[in-house]
Amino acid sequence: MCGIFGFIGKGNIQDIVRKGLQTLEYRGYDSCGYALLSDSGLKVEKKIGKGKIEELTSSLPINGSHRLRIISHTRWATHGRVTQENAHPQLDCAREIALVHNGIIENYKAIKESLEQEGHRFISETDTEVITHLIEKYIKRYEFEEAVKKALTELRGSFAVVVMWVNAGKVIAACKHSPLAIGIAGDNFFVASDAMAFLKYTKKVIFLEDEEMAVIDRGVDILPFGKNRKREKVFQEISMEPGKIEKGDFPHFMLKEIFEQPTVVKSTARHILNSLFFANTPPRIIKEVERIILVGCGTSWHAGLLGEYMIEELSGVPVEVEYASEFRYRNPVLSERDLVIAISQSGETADTLAALREAKKKCNVFAICNVPGSSMDRISDYVLYTKAGPEIGVASTKAFTAQLTVLYLFALYLAREKERISQQVIDIHIKELQNIPAKMEMILGRSKEIENISQYFLGKNNALYLGRGFQFPIALEGALKLKEVSYIHAEGYPAAEMKHGPIALVDQEMPVVFIAVQDSSYQKIMGNVEEVKARGGFIIALVNDEDREVKKIADMVIPVPETSQYIMPLLTVIPLQLLAYYTALKRGCDVDKPRNLAKSVTVE
Ligand code: G6P
Repeated sequence: MCGIFGFIGKGNIQDIVRKGLQTLEYRGYDSCGYALLSDSGLKVEKKIGKGKIEELTSSLPINGSHRLRIISHTRWATHGRVTQENAHPQLDCAREIALVHNGIIENYKAIKESLEQEGHRFISETDTEVITHLIEKYIKRYEFEEAVKKALTELRGSFAVVVMWVNAGKVIAACKHSPLAIGIAGDNFFVASDAMAFLKYTKKVIFLEDEEMAVIDRGVDILPFGKNRKREKVFQEISMEPGKIEKGDFPHFMLKEIFEQPTVVKSTARHILNSLFFANTPPRIIKEVERIILVGCGTSWHAGLLGEYMIEELSGVPVEVEYASEFRYRNPVLSERDLVIAISQSGETADTLAALREAKKKCNVFAICNVPGSSMDRISDYVLYTKAGPEIGVASTKAFTAQLTVLYLFALYLAREKERISQQVIDIHIKELQNIPAKMEMILGRSKEIENISQYFLGKNNALYLGRGFQFPIALEGALKLKEVSYIHAEGYPAAEMKHGPIALVDQEMPVVFIAVQDSSYQKIMGNVEEVKARGGFIIALVNDEDREVKKIADMVIPVPETSQYIMPLLTVIPLQLLAYYTALKRGCDVDKPRNLAKSVTVE
């Protein structure tokens, strides 16, 4: 979703802003723009459409001898269409205040009405524009900081904003429930919605807290604009490395990330074994926990569903899995012995973050997260990091298998703490996990066969994915991948439930993908395969190498190596990711940035 990048200082700003915005491209955007403040006044440029950052920034100076202030933005439309007027920066009536915004202003209609009555003229359909006009209103009576503060306290919702005024030498950044990081490199300052955007220049960072603003000039001042007390300004050194955001030899990030999974599972497992199993200070709550609630969105929610199977079976601790967007608003009953775990690649998804904040008022909260320094990382009591590296493809792939790796090891750890299994049994489980990367490589080696199978999906409008037990969440994830990137409508279902509805849709025109591996549900799912066959359905089945039965019935099969049922999902998801990728490619879709989707959903 929207990305903010600002710079105050000297340097080749064409390069700095271009690289900064390009780092934020992964969030998804449909227009971009900047406002540059120099001795010659305020210059505003905007471009409509994806892939326009290079064109936009080519009008920026490369000679860095003057100190400049620039705010820039990638917009993912929420309020108002993708137009020049709606792109950011937004300006006030006098065109003296320029502002970029990420988030949603919930009470913008009421504010807009009253400002219009006072004579303000609006030119966009955005919620953002009310902020510039509110500041314009107050700036007649107050200093710049005070005017911004007054405006911000009237806003309801979530926001990160960066604003400049032609008559002040400073830039103000502020946020509430939406992240903003300030970076310092000598006399130069950066502000961005993701510290990654300036990590190349500095690792000295301040993360703004809720209802705080940073006034940036020759230095940085942190002030509260809400109820918070003023806090000591402390820049922290962050350990993140500017991830290599390159496709290498791959045509798309999605394919590269699918192929990175063996390495990601290896490094995530190594990290969790070291931090959880071998550390001397496991959080006390783990011994005492009576119930776990896993929250997440999208693919991370699917990981949560598998987490439920793993944790309950191995440790006996009851687990609930909830969509973060539902959990946050239903006033859930939580006690001190509950543990809420947020699962999130980005650590910034608005609903998951809000669910975590809600839960933190009542119990311990953990996060399974891929981005150190993200909002979830900062507010959680304990974080289990996935070591997937930056995931750029909008459709999540390697983050998912990394999340499953963490959940599996966490389930084993919990089982040990609850004295449900011996170290000897744990060692057997871990050994099996250590064999997974090689098995993943075997599947990736068969990608050509999967590419051939994808041919069958080309003219299709619908697909059904069916699985049972540990493979039911994989059916959901397989269907999600296909619809996200190829725009073919796909549904995932528990195979037995199919009889209660989807079976009515079965015909030759709808591929039915069965995940029919040899686990405890195998005999049951065989029956479901027969049912679809009896109705003339076209069956594509994921089976184990040794399978004899399903192979005889299915129209096409994709073999996967055997492993224990707990971690079989780490293998079965890969052919489904590849199937979605190749289908989308053949249908001419933008695989890495599918239409309407955003990598990081920072508004609810
Ligand atoms: C978006 C992305 C999905 C992702 C979901 C949750 O919808 O497109 O790929 O699964 O957000 O994101 P998170 O960063 O919280 O895992």
